[in-house]
Amino acid sequence: MREKLGFGILGAGLVAPFHARSIINSRGGALVAVCDVDRQRAEKLAEEFGVRPVSSLDELLEDPEIDVVNVLTPNHLHYEAVIRCAEAGKHVITEKPPAMTLRETDEMISVCTQADVRFACTVQCRVRKAIQAMKRAVEQGRFGRLLCADTYMKWFRSTEYYKSDPWRSSRQSGAGVTVQHAFHYIDLLQYLAGPVSRVEARMMNLTHPSINLEDTLVAHLAFSNGARGLVQASTALWPGTEVRIEINGENGTAVMSGEKMTTWRFRDENPDDESIRRLGSESQATAAGGAADFGHADHQVVIQDVIDAIHSDREVIIPVTSVRPTVEIVLAMYQSAARGKPVELPIEDDPSIWEARC
Ligand SMILES: NC(=O)c1ccc[n+]([C@@H]2O[C@H](COP(=O)([O-])OP(=O)(O)OC[C@H]3O[C@@H](n4cnc5c(N)ncnc54)[C@H](O)[C@@H]3O)[C@@H](O)[C@H]2O)c1
Repeated sequence: MREKLGFGILGAGLVAPFHARSIINSRGGALVAVCDVDRQRAEKLAEEFGVRPVSSLDELLEDPEIDVVNVLTPNHLHYEAVIRCAEAGKHVITEKPPAMTLRETDEMISVCTQADVRFACTVQCRVRKAIQAMKRAVEQGRFGRLLCADTYMKWFRSTEYYKSDPWRSSRQSGAGVTVQHAFHYIDLLQYLAGPVSRVEARMMNLTHPSINLEDTLVAHLAFSNGARGLVQASTALWPGTEVRIEINGENGTAVMSGEKMTTWRFRDENPDDESIRRLGSESQATAAGGAADFGHADHQVVIQDVIDAIHSDREVIIPVTSVRPTVEIVLAMYQSAARGKPVELPIEDDPSIWEARC
């Protein structure tokens, strides 16, 4: 195996510089080429990072210097690109959500497994130190019986943001607040307290009347372990505040705001607890008010892990198999909102959810 793994970026849009920076700052990774159907975007990013611009996925797949492809295209285009990358023997890192249906998600996982390539997803909030501390405490049983796992994502995106690119206001492309913005935080709830057994959701458009998307989600979750959860997610709430993740059990409470641990209380105090209370920095931007208003540190961890996993022939820390439950919960939310009633998991795909009007 080459000392440095070669990376190709597919989709040179808003999130691409975060991947590019993570690759060039990694141990053992090198950025080789940047691809976009929009030639100017490919050239601009390629010039910034001193690599080759290309215009088609074929050019990335035919390049023997490229071992890993970062799929950073709009949500509805991940599926086809991932399948083609895996069939060409390239490892894949896909942006969230991995796909728009369970059938696509399962097929992507299956093709990557058959091709023996790593298949990771950048639900990068999982690697935050505060979330890892919560995960350990859940696994150690420190919360006791879990009672509540909630998230509050009160963000703002302008109508100009939604109109800046056709896919950003298209339901079929996966642009609604539930699948596009809240995906990370729904993922954290299932990662920390899942699995989820039942979902009841309502979706509405509060302040973006010229687009046919939900800008606001209110949902109730029932977890298999008996805990309950609330999800409030919106891009209608100016100026936007930090996302909160709250976990309550009979013996403890933890709250993360942004990336900072703001509450960490257990009946059985541990010597490490004081340092956990100081986790997270006030200054880290977390996208509350703007789409590119966040740091690349979390992406860096995910990308470094993929490099290390390939070198040591192990599974990645965020395989898409671990994100499939999030896809299912999100799809169940759309089904529940469309039908006006609760939905039990597991579910079957219902493509009509992407045709519904908000
Ligand atoms: N993990 C995160 O925190 C995070 C943050 C932002 C965006 N994202 C995700 O990243 C993905 C991209 O989002 P974005 O905001 O960068 O979108 P974007 O519209 O800014 O960029 C997408 C780019 O893909 C290009 N493209 C479209 N079809 C293509 C094709 N067939 N071949 C090559 N290029 C193609 C477009 O021209 C565009 O430049 C989405 O899945 C989004 O959900 C994740």
